[in-house]
Amino acid sequence: MNESSFPAWLAAQAAQREARGLTRRLTDCDRGEPLLDLAGNDYLGLARDPRVVAGAVAAAQAYGAGAAASRLVSGTLSIHTGLEHAMAAFTGFASALVFSSGYHANLSVIQALADRDTLVVSDAHIHASMIDACRLARATVTVTPHNHVAAVQRALASRTQRRALVLIETIYSVLGDAAPVAALAGLAAEYDAVLVADEAHALGVAGPGGRGLLAAHGLTSRPDVVATGTLSKSFGAQGGLVLGLPAVREHLVNRARPFIYDTGLAPPAAGGALAALRVITAAPELAGRVRANAAILAAACGVDPPAGAVLSVPVPGPREALASVAAAAGHGLRIGCFRPPSTPDGISRLRLTAHAQHTGEELALAAKVLRHIAPGAGR
Ligand SMILES: Cc1ncc(COP(=O)(O)O)c(C=O)c1O
Repeated sequence: MNESSFPAWLAAQAAQREARGLTRRLTDCDRGEPLLDLAGNDYLGLARDPRVVAGAVAAAQAYGAGAAASRLVSGTLSIHTGLEHAMAAFTGFASALVFSSGYHANLSVIQALADRDTLVVSDAHIHASMIDACRLARATVTVTPHNHVAAVQRALASRTQRRALVLIETIYSVLGDAAPVAALAGLAAEYDAVLVADEAHALGVAGPGGRGLLAAHGLTSRPDVVATGTLSKSFGAQGGLVLGLPAVREHLVNRARPFIYDTGLAPPAAGGALAALRVITAAPELAGRVRANAAILAAACGVDPPAGAVLSVPVPGPREALASVAAAAGHGLRIGCFRPPSTPDGISRLRLTAHAQHTGEELALAAKVLRHIAPGAGR
C-alpha cells in the first residue's frame, strides 16, 4: 500500500487507536440476549412507553415522517410551536425553540449569542457540543476548572471583551454532579454576563417534578439565564431545546446557523416528546424515583449518590473500563464507559444510568453484580 495514500492513513489511524485501547465499535443493541439497561439515557423509560409511541405515530400520520424543510422555509408545523409552548410552560421559561438535536441546540445558542467581542467562560467538563459551538462562534474562551466558582469570578472580573457568556451543565454528563447554579447565576448578574446552562441531564430527573435545576433555584425568569436541553433523554424522543426570553428565541431564529440551515425537527419526534411531557407532568414522582434508584446503584459501586441519573465510577484505564463493561454484560447488565478523549481529565470511568422503571428485583440483581465488578465497591 502506498504509504501516503488515503487507505494507508486510515489504517495507521486505526492501528494507533487500537494500540491505545481507544477503538470504538458500533453494535446492534437490540440483538442478542436482552440486558438490563444501565447505560442509556431513557431515564424515565418513556422511549418505548405506549403513550409516547402513540404520540409519535399520531404525529407521523398527521404531519408526515419528516418536516420536509428548514423551519424558516416551510418546515414550521403547529406540532413544533405546540411543543415549544408546552416546554416553556413546563420549565417556567417565557419561551422555547426546538431543534433537530440537543447538539444543534448547543451549537446554535452559543454561535448566535457569542461573537469575537465575547468572552466565553467555560467549565472544563462541558459537553462536546458546547466546545464545538465555541469554535464556531470564534469567541475568546477561558476554560475554568470544574465547578470552580472563584475561577469563573476571576475570569469575568478581568475580561476585556464587551460581553460574556458562562457555560455550564446543571448536572454534568461526565461525573453526574450538579453545578453550583445559584453562585454562578449570581456572578452572571454581578458581571453582566449570560449564564448558558445545559439541562440535558437534569430535565425529567431533577428539580420540582423534573423541571430541572434552574427551576429548582428560581432562575427561569431571569433575563440573563438561557437553558438548553435535549428531547432524547428523559423525554424518550429526539430533538433539542433552547429556553429563554422571547427575544432570545427571536435572535436564534434569525442568527443561529445550525437552526436556520437544518430541517425542522421530525414530527414523530415532536409528537413523542409532547406525549412524554404529558406523562411527566401527570407523574411528578418519576424524577424522585430515578434519583432513589441511582442512590442504590451508587451504594453498590462504592461512590456517592449522584445529583440525577448519571453515575460515574473511576477505573484505572481504558482497558479496565472495557473489561468491566464486558463482565457486566456477562452478568446481564448493560453499562457504559467513558474513555479518553471523551473524558475531560483523561480518567477512564464506568458510566451507569439509573432509570425510573427498574424494579426492586432488577436493582437488587444489578447491585449484586456491581459490587463484584466496580472497582470502588465496598469502599
Ligand atoms: C450534556 C449534553 N448536552 C447535549 C447533548 C446532545 O444531545 P442530543 O443527543 O439530543 O444531540 C448531550 C447528549 O449526549 C449531552 O449529554
